[in-house]
Amino acid sequence: MVITRRVGCLRRTSGGRVGTERRSNAADRLDPTIAHNARVWNYWLGGKDHYAADREAGDHVFRMFPDIVHVARADREFLGRAVRFLADEAGIRQFLDIGTGLPTAENTHEVAQRVAPESRIVYADNDALVLVHARALLTSSPQGATDYVDADIRDTDRLLEAAGRTLDFSRPVAIMLLGVLNFVLDTEEAQRVVRRLMDAVPSGSYLVLTHPTLELGGEGNVEAMQFWNQNAKPPITARSGAEVARFLDGLELLEPGLVSCARWRPDPADGSGTAPAQVAQYGAVARKP
Ligand SMILES: C[S@@+](CC[C@H](N)C(=O)[O-])C[C@H]1O[C@@H](n2cnc3c(N)ncnc32)[C@H](O)[C@@H]1O
Repeated sequence: MVITRRVGCLRRTSGGRVGTERRSNAADRLDPTIAHNARVWNYWLGGKDHYAADREAGDHVFRMFPDIVHVARADREFLGRAVRFLADEAGIRQFLDIGTGLPTAENTHEVAQRVAPESRIVYADNDALVLVHARALLTSSPQGATDYVDADIRDTDRLLEAAGRTLDFSRPVAIMLLGVLNFVLDTEEAQRVVRRLMDAVPSGSYLVLTHPTLELGGEGNVEAMQFWNQNAKPPITARSGAEVARFLDGLELLEPGLVSCARWRPDPADGSGTAPAQVAQYGAVARKP
């Protein structure tokens, strides 16, 4: 497989080289001395793509808010359940996953293409190390396609334009915003971003989101976020259920609604029959009417 260079994108083609220029450009942007969210998230998930500064900040947050590891895992498990539902029961074949994070187990295309190999997935993130590792996200089934866009979610028009090279915006798309709106600190701006994204897709499309909150328990979370904002990048904000619900305005909220992401349609095979412990992260799936 070759990944060729394109403005703002890595794209899967065929052969055996990587878009060297873009990756070395990304390497120039890498700062291993300050903790970055994508890398610390990877650390909490048990991955291996992080530096000493990430581990140090990650451990510090963990000491203040030990539940953070459960939040990260519950968020990924929610992603798996939501994508399986969308591919299997809702018939969705296109996914735009923004704030993708570093490649890990059960990336969106792996879950979707296991159900429907023809699924087309575009990933987008603005972190330099995610770009460096993006080729691991570009292992599409031959019937489908994957692409990676190096973009900031706030640069929404450019991101949509780049995604439009792989996705057909006249057909339904699942817009996936897992753990990323919390980095758009201004709530009005975050709402504008969501509206712009949902305006770009037709009826029958979906919005999938997770968002950290201080409402669902999690002692130490306030101090942990303060520590993060003083010592790591990018700065983060938590939001109330009412604020997160506004991102879903005008959409049909699927059952069970806006809940702790661990409690969104938990897989009965995973547990003892009791509701999973709640984590301080809202999750929801909603359909554009
Ligand atoms: C908490 S991680 C979530 C990763 C993945 N979506 C998941 O749920 O496991 C947040 C990701 O959002 C990315 N991110 C943060 N701010 C962003 C922005 N302004 N535009 C695009 N991506 C951003 C980070 O680089 C990181 O990879």
